[in-house]
Amino acid sequence: MEGKEKLVINGGCVLEGKTRVNGGKNTSVAVLPAVLLSDDVCVIENVPDIEDVKVLVQILRSLGAKVEYETPERLRIDPRKAEGTKVESCYAGRLRASYYLAGALLGRCGQAEVAFPGGCNFDDRPIDQHIMGFQALGAATETSDEVIRAKVKDGGKRLKGNDVFFDMVTVGGTINVMLAAVKAEGKTTIYNAAKEPHIVDLANFLNSMGARIKGAGTDMIRIRGVDHLNGTNYAVIPDQIETGTLMIAAAATRGDVTIYGCIPTHMEALTAKLLEMGARVTDMDDAIRVRFQNAYRPVRVKTQVYPGFPTDLQQPMTALLTTTPGTSYVQENIYKTRFGHINPLIHMGAEARVEDQTIIINGVPQLHGAAVEATDLRAGAALLVAGLMAQGITEIHRAELIDRGYEHIEKKLNLLGARIERESPSLM
Ligand code: EPZ
Repeated sequence: MEGKEKLVINGGCVLEGKTRVNGGKNTSVAVLPAVLLSDDVCVIENVPDIEDVKVLVQILRSLGAKVEYETPERLRIDPRKAEGTKVESCYAGRLRASYYLAGALLGRCGQAEVAFPGGCNFDDRPIDQHIMGFQALGAATETSDEVIRAKVKDGGKRLKGNDVFFDMVTVGGTINVMLAAVKAEGKTTIYNAAKEPHIVDLANFLNSMGARIKGAGTDMIRIRGVDHLNGTNYAVIPDQIETGTLMIAAAATRGDVTIYGCIPTHMEALTAKLLEMGARVTDMDDAIRVRFQNAYRPVRVKTQVYPGFPTDLQQPMTALLTTTPGTSYVQENIYKTRFGHINPLIHMGAEARVEDQTIIINGVPQLHGAAVEATDLRAGAALLVAGLMAQGITEIHRAELIDRGYEHIEKKLNLLGARIERESPSLM
């Protein structure tokens, strides 16, 4: 098994205690490119210390922005001298969100050339809707397997506001069109927009710089283009997927964990499922406590766009259900092939199969440790949950994929009673 990082889990622990969630990955990876739209310095707080953010910082620097870490979670970004319009494949190929540079650079300079994004390749993940949105705003575009090129038509510098109708709800498409439209001339209306919390957070961030965006969090977002955006000081929202992963890990180990610094209303779909299974979940103002009571019941889960059950928690949730008595069903409706966790889970003793995008799981009393490989970020998170529950030693290879979205995850879990060690070439 190839890969840089390995997590070795001595399973069978019960997670107990208090922990704190980090700032949102999927918000930060939108907010950092959005800083390029500002005409002054921005200070961004609560940024998670994860690989995807580190790569974005390199991209911003490669474009000429000055980025300083005031603390590991607080970045001071001065975009005033960012004159680059091209993002090379050595950066773009390392994360999905590099495509937000296309919207941000189009909005800033009227042109962008971004090498094709990388990131988790559990499905085709087309970007036709992003491109359609740029075109609707007056950009000429050219895409290949290697690169996305977009430029305001007829040598102009500024896009023109327009109506954008998405064929399906797309988080990335909504964000990219918001980035492109915020400094366009006139009014843009995005129909069938995504409603995820990070869309609202991005709109709040842009509005704090002087943008005029209304309706974020509904399926129709209205943007009145502005000429100029100020600097700002902004803290990104907590990560709802990290919160959910910790909630699932607490439930899976039959533990009792309180997660501070989260927004419980963002977690309602997962909370409802855990309650239905028989866990105890208590919401506080900015914390959630998850406790095991006495037994779990099987459930049916269907992934949906927000506020439905998030696809990004489908994989960890599946891991939890492998030891839930009875037959559970998990239907993946966002991606056709997000099932890279199933074979490794079977290797650890799970009884699961995929039929027509539904995972059918017959709960077993106990998983056993094994050497397994993370195929993508959330598949890795699922194997972490499984490894915590399993009897014996689990080795997760390619754990660097987990580091893309979770900050120092083994340290956080070890403080709750897990026994996880990292084997890293840099430590050997
Ligand atoms: C974002 O991906 C997240 N990534 C994903 O997080 C998340 O799984 C996904 O939204 C859904 O919530 C980031 O925020 C960086 P989409 P995105 O556009 O924007 C189809 C994680 O683990 N589609 O909402 O790429 C697409 O194939 C990750 O943190 C098109 O067909 O997702 C999918 O079936 C991975 N054409 C559906 O729409 C398009 O142009 C939703 O995708 C765009 C999307």
